Amino acid sequence: MYESYFSNKFTNGLVFYVFLLLLLLVSPFLFAWELVNAIRSCLQTKENMSGKVVLITGASSGLGELMAYEYAKLGAYLAIIARQKPESQLEQVAVRARELGSPDVLFMFADVSKVDECRMFVDNTVQHFGRLDHLVCNAGISPLYSINNDVTKFEPVMDINFWGSVYPTHFAIPHLMKSKGKIIVNASSAGVLNPPRGGFYNASKAALISFYESLRFEVSPTITITILTLGFIQTNMITAKYSSNGVGVRLRKDMKDVVPTMEAEPCVKAMVDGICKGATSITEPRFVKALFFINYLFPQLHQFYFKKYFSSKNRNLKRNG
Ligand SMILES: NC(=O)c1ccc[n+]([C@@H]2O[C@H](COP(=O)([O-])OP(=O)(O)OC[C@H]3O[C@@H](n4cnc5c(N)ncnc54)[C@H](OP(=O)(O)O)[C@@H]3O)[C@@H](O)[C@H]2O)c1
Repeated sequence: MYESYFSNKFTNGLVFYVFLLLLLLVSPFLFAWELVNAIRSCLQTKENMSGKVVLITGASSGLGELMAYEYAKLGAYLAIIARQKPESQLEQVAVRARELGSPDVLFMFADVSKVDECRMFVDNTVQHFGRLDHLVCNAGISPLYSINNDVTKFEPVMDINFWGSVYPTHFAIPHLMKSKGKIIVNASSAGVLNPPRGGFYNASKAALISFYESLRFEVSPTITITILTLGFIQTNMITAKYSSNGVGVRLRKDMKDVVPTMEAEPCVKAMVDGICKGATSITEPRFVKALFFINYLFPQLHQFYFKKYFSSKNRNLKRNG
């Protein structure tokens, strides 16, 4: 019966316009609902992190490092991960986190794209602290792609950004089930908005969103999953210097000189606050949420915005090498 309705072109098209009309009618209620939720989240009690155990990947710099400090101030035990590199700041991050209030910090060098190393750092964390409460899958890289680049050089994007979150999640789930813990995954607004030159990065982040939205059905309500969809945040990742180090396209200027960005510290404070209140998704800066709606409802406007910022004003891209 349904087949005959939807094979009729007129009815098929009509459904879409009826839906848009309904959206218009319910939008005041949606607005009220968002407002109620915002007020409710202000009043919500926060999880007491004192004595809890938090494992953070990609904690040697940027958002992971600042999250370690924020959790440390709340009295959490920490296990922090980054790759073994001569210039790594991971040990200094551990020292600072102890100074800020963490009772004990375990730092481990590991590559999240390697399954055995992920198993190792999850097991070591539980052996050392006896439990795991929050797993923060944060490690990531963001080379920019152009069709002129060697496509085979971009495999690590998926290996680190996608598998590098999925592997530790897989090994941590039994421990998080016991502690009724949380999984926090640092996806990106890029996984929804698909900015230009981000092809592989966007795809890896879209894959993360899809994977964790699906995983929710299996593990909730015992484990809460928080998906972070951040806009441009002022870390190394969005600077010209960082983009020159790897493969792909190089930025001429830091992104903060080209598009609206948010400072990392207030962003991380809002993130950890939301996580401890049990939020299932967090978007900072907040205006990025409006871009999600524009993307779905007015795709032409969305394309205009990105063309404006990334093509004419920016003219910010060079090839690496
Ligand atoms: N900054 C933004 O605008 C923005 C926006 C949305 C989402 N994000 C996401 O936020 C996360 C953190 O990025 P960030 O901005 O803080 O950049 P960042 O300062 O470059 O931090 C990236 C972290 O990931 C670690 N890492 C990279 N590859 C790794 C691997 N194979 N194994 C273990 N650790 C690895 C890095 O440590 P080592 O290099 O020392 O190993 C570093 O600690 C990323 O997933 C990123 O996609 C950032």
